[in-house]
Order: sequence, then C-alpha cells, then structure tokens
Amino acid sequence: EKGLRIADKGFLNTAVITSEITYIDGDAGVLRYRGYPIEQLAVHSNFLETSYLLIYGSLPTRSQSKLFEHEVMQHSIAHHDAESLLRAFRYDSHPMSILTSAFAGLGSMYSEANPSLQGQTLYTKGDAACLANMDKQIYRLIGKATTLAAMAYRVRQGRKFVTPPAGLSYTGSFLYQMDHLGEEEYKPSPVLEKALDVLFLLHADHELNASCTTVLQTGSSLVDPYSAIAAGCASLYGPLHGGANEAVIRMLISIGSPDNVPAFVEQVKRREKVLSGFGHRVYKTSDPRSFIVRKTADEVFKVTGKDELLETAMRLHEVAMKDEYFIKRKLAPNVDFCSGLIYRSMGFPLDFFPVLFAVPRVVGWLAHWRQMMLQPGGVKIWRPRQVYVGPSVRDYVPVDERG
Ligand code: SDX
Repeated sequence: EKGLRIADKGFLNTAVITSEITYIDGDAGVLRYRGYPIEQLAVHSNFLETSYLLIYGSLPTRSQSKLFEHEVMQHSIAHHDAESLLRAFRYDSHPMSILTSAFAGLGSMYSEANPSLQGQTLYTKGDAACLANMDKQIYRLIGKATTLAAMAYRVRQGRKFVTPPAGLSYTGSFLYQMDHLGEEEYKPSPVLEKALDVLFLLHADHELNASCTTVLQTGSSLVDPYSAIAAGCASLYGPLHGGANEAVIRMLISIGSPDNVPAFVEQVKRREKVLSGFGHRVYKTSDPRSFIVRKTADEVFKVTGKDELLETAMRLHEVAMKDEYFIKRKLAPNVDFCSGLIYRSMGFPLDFFPVLFAVPRVVGWLAHWRQMMLQPGGVKIWRPRQVYVGPSVRDYVPVDERG
C-alpha cells in the first residue's frame, strides 16, 4: 500500500518524536535528564527539583524551586468529591485500578483544564495565559499524585483519609498519609524519606517507554491532561512495565530460597518462567538506575533490617549474570529488580509497588505532554497506519446459504 513500511514488532527500532528531555544510551548504560547524569542528580538533587528540570528544561534557581514546591504542595490536597470517588471502590480493588480511575475522575473536577470545553488551543497557544494554565494542571497532578495514591492505599485498608500537616516534604507528606494512624504524631524518618525521594527521582522519566507513548498518543487528540495521565497509568500497570516491581517479589517468594535459584533459572531458560526485573528494551547492559537502587537498599536496610528475600535476589543475580542464556540475550537487572525489596522493607503492601512507580512517573509523562503541546507547528494527532492482510473484497452471503 503506497510505500507503507511495517514497524518492527513492538516498535523495536522506531522513533516517533524528537525530544530534549531524557537521553538513554542502552549499550553504554547511560541515563541523563536534560543532559545531567542520573548518578549526579541522585546524589545532589531531589525529586521536586529534578521534576522542575524535566518539565522546564533547566535546574531551578532557589526562588523558582521554592515557588514550584509551594505550588505542588498547595495542590496536594484532594477535593472532597475525590474522596467519595475513591470510596466507591471495593476494599480489594488493585490500587493501580483505583489510581488510574482517580486520575481520570480528577479531570472531571476542573472544567477550566478541558480543551473540549475551553477550546482546542487551551494548551497549544503558548501565550502567558496558556502557560499559566498548563503550569496549574502540572502542579495539581504532581501534588495530587501522592494524595490519590495514599487514598487508594487507605481504601484497601478500610481506613479514613488523613490530611498531612503543612511543612512536610513531598515524600514526608506522602509517608504521613500512608502510615499515620491518627493516634501518635508522625515520626519523620529522614533515611526513609530520602530513600523514597531518590527512588522517585530515578523513576521520574525514561523517554518513550510504553506508558509515556500512551500519554502522548492519548494527549495528541487534545484531551485534558488528566485523561492522558490516566491512560499512561493504565499502561504502566502491566507486569511487563511498571507492574514488574510487584512481579519480582512474587517471583522471589515463589523461588523460596537461594538454594532453589538454579532450578528456577533452568525453568526460565525453558521459557516456563519469566525472570522479572531482568531485561530491557533499550538497555543491553545493566540499567544504570539498578546500581543506585541497590545502594539505596543498603541504606534502607540499616534502618529496617535486611529483607529476607535479598539473599535469594542476590543469588539469582549472580547465577543469571554468569549464564550464557542471559549473556547472549544481553539480559541484566533493570530498575525493578531491587526496588521492590526496598518498598517491602518500608512496609508497603505488594500490590502497591506499581503505584510507587506511577506517582513519580507522572512528572515524566507531564514533561513529554508539555513538550508535545508546545512543539513548533502545533500538535498533530497520532494516527499510525497498518498494512492490511485480510480477505480481499467479497459479496454478502445470506445466513441460510452459509456453510
Ligand atoms: C520497565 O521501556 C522502559 O524504559 C521501561 C522502564 C521505564 O523506566 O519506563 O525502564 C521500566 O518497564 C523496566 C522493565 C520491567 N519489566 C520486567 O522486568 C519484565 C521482565 N522483562 C521482560 O518482559 C522484557 O525484558 C522486557 C519486556 C522488559 C523487554 O522486552 P523486549 O525488549 O520486547 O525483549 P524481548 O522480549 O524481545 O526479549 C529478547 C529475548 C527473548 O528471547 P528470544 O525469543 O530472543 O530467545 O530475551 C528474552 C526473550 O524471551 N527475555 C527474557 C527476559 N526478557 C527478555 N527471558 C527471560 N526473562 C526475562 N526477563
């Protein structure tokens, strides 16, 4: 058909945009946000400062940082109507289902954010009013991501929602809402807050992964950003993507002990099992984030005690990295291999782990969404073609004449 070329399966080698946000060199194991190496940002920056960098393209000045943090924290309070929306879920709903719906529902509460109601150029005009409105939705979505996540957690536990006191950090406010039992004062834990902040920073963006592509595909029809983020959240939910951190722990629990690792690896090689937390579409060496996650885990284990699954994970890492099957396929640990061990030792429930991926990834999705809205020449709806391989033209057959 007119020179159409089918892309490689899963868009293996297909670039659909140019971007100035995140750079990955999969062969060298390099990850940079707006040119800054992830290793430097993990040590010297923090999640909200890096969020500003990803979205606006430069490290903020002190006053820009303070304003951004103030706006995000101001918007972290959820509208009362959001509470009744989340309360509608059964207690045993997966928190990613709840969060996905919560983002979409949030969009219904802000008609000024809806291009279908306010006009198509709401986010594409690029003038001061457009940028200010875009900023407001960005503050809201980043601020509310932790609150909606914490509310989803409490729906699962049948507990009431709590509003954090002003003055806590982004992750501190989140941990307060997650664990505050209402009786005693929240005891901030600087080590755990810092560890979660580093993990949020590492998960903030990763160029055009499946969920980011979903956000842009959805956003290209000029739908409101809440609906686009909800679509991205749904994509991230899958076990091949953001659901892998939960799948890794289920895998380690099913292996049982380090002694069972060799037998498990043989099952993987016979394709009876998948080694979750290993492999990556782009990285053909270790995911650079996995080294920082591993270091962060050691910090956390000093406070929480070592997770008993760590030995099995380390044995699995050791056996797989020496095995020809994995070496030939360039399979190495990705960001999800150890992150779940940290979340588990911090007391998060297993099915909440993908939520801990989605919360920070809202920033990367928004950075790419904003880049698309403001791209020179305006937004073009994403509408790929197909190569048709079905039956050629044929006439209708009445039902009594069918075989
Ligand atoms: C994330 O894209 C991103 O940037 C994602 C992410 C982000 O920050 O947004 O980095 C986050 O999603 C990390 C990935 C988390 N997923 C998992 O850990 C699930 C386990 N991994 C695999 O499902 C797989 O590695 C993928 C999905 C991550 C990548 O799949 P690809 O690129 O389509 O690779 P593939 O399936 O074609 O694998 C190539 C070969 C195949 O063997 P052959 O058919 O060639 O013989 O490697 C094998 C695969 O069977 N393989 C695995 C494997 N991953 C790939 N074999 C066993 N265990 C694995 N984990």
